[in-house]
Amino acid sequence: MPLSRCLEVRDVSHRYRHDQPLVLNGVSLRIEEGVAVALMGPSGSGKTTLLSILGMLTIPTAGTVLLDGQPPLRARGRTRLRAELFSWVFQGVNVLPRRSAVDNAALGLLARGMRYSQSMGTALAALEVVGLHGLADRRIDTLSGGEVQRVCIARALATRPRYILADEPTGQLDRANTAVAIDALVGRRPRGTAVVIATHDPFVAGHCDVVVQLVDGTPTVDSRLP
Ligand SMILES: Nc1ncnc2c1ncn2[C@@H]1O[C@H](COP(=O)(O)OP(=O)(O)OP(=O)(O)O)[C@@H](O)[C@H]1O
Ligand SMILES: [Mg+2]
Repeated sequence: MPLSRCLEVRDVSHRYRHDQPLVLNGVSLRIEEGVAVALMGPSGSGKTTLLSILGMLTIPTAGTVLLDGQPPLRARGRTRLRAELFSWVFQGVNVLPRRSAVDNAALGLLARGMRYSQSMGTALAALEVVGLHGLADRRIDTLSGGEVQRVCIARALATRPRYILADEPTGQLDRANTAVAIDALVGRRPRGTAVVIATHDPFVAGHCDVVVQLVDGTPTVDSRLP
């Protein structure tokens, strides 16, 4: 029987330095296709760390990461796999400040080898989803913090990845724009995109299928899935 597509961490623990305590302690979590997961927990509870392990940027101190039931590839193969599978919305916004909103929204497409002229239509459509169509030609350094945050969400949406890993993607947004951003992120579920969102906002978590609470490096899972 073929395995369903899923990303899984099994009994993962992590510490950044040997003389520091565990940040994550025996975390097991399965991200099924097309599901929206909220990662909650106090500041310092390990949300960003867990996202980084799921996205294969950080190798955990102990435990395993499995993609479709298999350990992911090593070294160079892993870098390519990462680029194919994941789009990120980072906690600290990372953009090219002197380029336009649409150029920034297209960055993920260009990194995946799409021609610039071809990328523009897709990037514009993604900006429209987050309500920024009218600002497509504006330089990033002339936009507000919340507008830049939405450009980052558009950039993640444009590539239609299998997983979107979003680290506090609505931290700088008001309620109305938070709703727009979350609808855009979870709206990709029918296409099979799974989204994992680290957030402090119960409103955001309320739009997800599964809520994982991290406390002292250990998760409790509240699933609203049928
Ligand atoms: N590169 C690092 N080196 C050492 N310690 C780190 C590093 N990154 C994170 N930590 C520590 O690991 C713990 C978990 O950090 P993490 O960023 O995962 O928390 P978080 O839940 O995302 O917090 P926040 O809500 O503030 O973003 C914190 O105590 C933090 O200080
Ligand atoms: Mg964090």
